[in-house]
Parts: sequence; structure tokens; C-alpha cells
Amino acid sequence: MLNNQAPAHLTQQFNDAFNTPATHLSIAPGRVNLIGEFTDYNLGYVLPCALEFSTKVLFRVNHTDQINVRSTAYPNEHEQFDVSSSILAGDSQWGNYIRAVAFVLVREGHQISGLDILIDSNVPQGAGLSSSAALEVSIAGAFNAAFNLGLTKEQIAVIGQSAENDFMHCQCGIMDQLISAQGMQSHAVLIDCNNLATQAVPIPSDISLVIVNSNYPRKLVDSEYNQRRLDCENAAKKMKVPSLRQADMALLLSQQSNMTENEFKRARHVISENDRVLQTIEALKANNMPQLIALLAASHYSLKHDFEVTVPATDGLVDIISDALEGKGAVRMTGGGFGGAVVCLCRASEISTVKNAVEQHYHARFNLKADVYVCQAGVGLHVNSIT
Ligand code: GLA
Repeated sequence: MLNNQAPAHLTQQFNDAFNTPATHLSIAPGRVNLIGEFTDYNLGYVLPCALEFSTKVLFRVNHTDQINVRSTAYPNEHEQFDVSSSILAGDSQWGNYIRAVAFVLVREGHQISGLDILIDSNVPQGAGLSSSAALEVSIAGAFNAAFNLGLTKEQIAVIGQSAENDFMHCQCGIMDQLISAQGMQSHAVLIDCNNLATQAVPIPSDISLVIVNSNYPRKLVDSEYNQRRLDCENAAKKMKVPSLRQADMALLLSQQSNMTENEFKRARHVISENDRVLQTIEALKANNMPQLIALLAASHYSLKHDFEVTVPATDGLVDIISDALEGKGAVRMTGGGFGGAVVCLCRASEISTVKNAVEQHYHARFNLKADVYVCQAGVGLHVNSIT
């Protein structure tokens, strides 16, 4: 369960930083995506779940126009900006996520003023587990509660996505922010990115969720990410459909000769991946491990060969884990690609097999150390009063 209490050391740190106690705590989780990769901005299906790793934001209204932010991860940095004048990017990358959310809220006409904020997060950074979405959603949740903006969780997620798109210049889809806002304990959530409808999908209690972070240094992620999105949009245009959601394999094949090879391959990934998401839901309902293995393997293959977002380290982790599990667990890369993590669904009795195989082979092959997390699906955004 997500612990909704503010730990004493954080309330103390808030007091020390601002000479006054925090009044509220906003908590939003990171996520892992089970399947449905790069389908969100093509208005398709995704199946993520929220994690128990989360970003905590302690805050209080300070009755000025200043946003004053501290982060336990950067104890020597103080982020500060004024919401009554234009909000521009600053020097601090983490601080810009706070600015980005405030920028979108102001642009959309919401009345916000000053807050004192302390951030504390245990979402691994750079692992493809959405530490930035957790930050955006927890900050938007804090503004919403502090100034009674009346935003729904879906609206909070969309504000987080706009912050990323319009201020941070990453053209991401809605998946990460929406699952961070709306995650459900012990469930994955099917999101139809065409209308943002959600459906809770129980994860069978005898299936464990194991995440292995490759710790591969991610490079050029935003530019490659944005390029993939353009390829998908161009493929849709050439098929004369508003998005790849409206395309199918027959249409794609009929238009192949009008497309670049990349446009064709990106679209083939997205169209086939949407189908795999729906099949995965059936496989989870039936607790059908062989089916899950086949679907996650097909997703990884498509991400490697058609979407071209895997790296040798994540391909290697998938090989190491699937070889060790010998047909007893499903595994694929997860998240935005170019490094990051792989997700594995297996029985609890197989967790040690996964850990041992990673320990034995990964460092030897890639000269990197992986982190293994055994996770539960957790809840989405929560904002509580502390006092
Ligand atoms: C990143 C983006 C998401 C999604 C995934 C890939 O996490 O933020 O919107 O596109 O990559 O599925």
C-alpha cells in the first residue's frame, strides 16, 4: 500500500527550509507498462500499472506569488520563480518540471499563486519508470488542492502531458501521466488513448511483477522519440487516416509503396501492438502464462526490429531472463526505450531464477550492473492534509 503519511524526517526538513510547517502532501507514483508501447500518441491501447515507487510533494500556500522549491535529491539547489510574470525555463532540469506545470496552469487560465514545496522521490531516474510524470502529476495535484482548481485526475494528467510537450519539448503521449494519476492497487489499467477511457484489469495474485533496470546510459532519447512520432504521423497521413488507430494491416500493406521503410515499420509496430494489448488482457484474465510469454516476446521483437528503440543491453536482459525462465515467465522492454528497464511477469517461485540469471550474466556481458525490483501495482495520485 502507498503510505499516505508524511514521514517525520520530511516534515522536519520542510520546517527547516521554510520556517513553517507543510499543510499537505501530494503523492504520485511512477509506472511500468506491461504492453502497448508507443501506441499512446497514436491513439491506441496501453496497459500500464502504477508502482509503489512515488514522488512525495509536501506543500503549503505562502500568500505570495513565489514558488519556492526544495528537493531532497538536490539539497544544495533552491528553485524559485514567480507565477505573476512569464514563466520561462530556468537552469535546473528538475526545477523546469515545476515551472512547466505552473506554465500550463497559468496558460489555461487557472488562478494560482505562491507555494512552498519540498519534493522527495524514490522513483528510479532514467529507468523508463516515469519519474518525470510522477513529478508533474504530484505537482499538478498540489496546485489543484492548494488553489481549489477543481481538476479531475484526467485533467491533471493532461496538464502533466502538456507540460512535457509544450515546455519540456518532449512529444510524449498521455500514458505515463494518466496511470500516475489513476493507478489502481493490484491492477493494470487498460487506457484507450483515443478517448482516455480506462478499465481496471486485475493482475492475477500469483503473477509477480519484476522490473530490471539496465542502467544503460540513455542518450538522444527525446530527439529519437520525437522522430518516431513523426514517422507514425506521416504513415497515418499517407494512409489518409487521422491516426494509426484507424489503420489496419490490410490498409498498411496496400500503401506500403508510398511510404519510407521507416514509416512502414513504425506503423506495423503500432498496429500489431494494439492488437497485442487486447490479447494480453484476455491472457491475464485467463492467467495464461504461455500466452503472456508469446505476447510479450512478440512486443519486444517488434520494438527491436520495427520500432528500433531497444539497445543491446535491454535486448540482452530479455534474452538472459527468458533463457533462464525456460518458458515460465514473460519478458520484454518497457517504457520509452533506448535503455531503461525490462518488465517480467512470472510466478513468485521464479523470482530467484531471474535474479540469479541477471547477476550471473548481465555484468559479464555488458559491463553494467542491473537493479532488480520486485513490485506491486500501486495506487495513483493522492493529496492529503498533513495537519
Ligand atoms: C514514454 C512516453 C509515453 C509513451 C512511452 C512509450 O514513456 O512518455 O507517452 O509513449 O514512452 O510507450
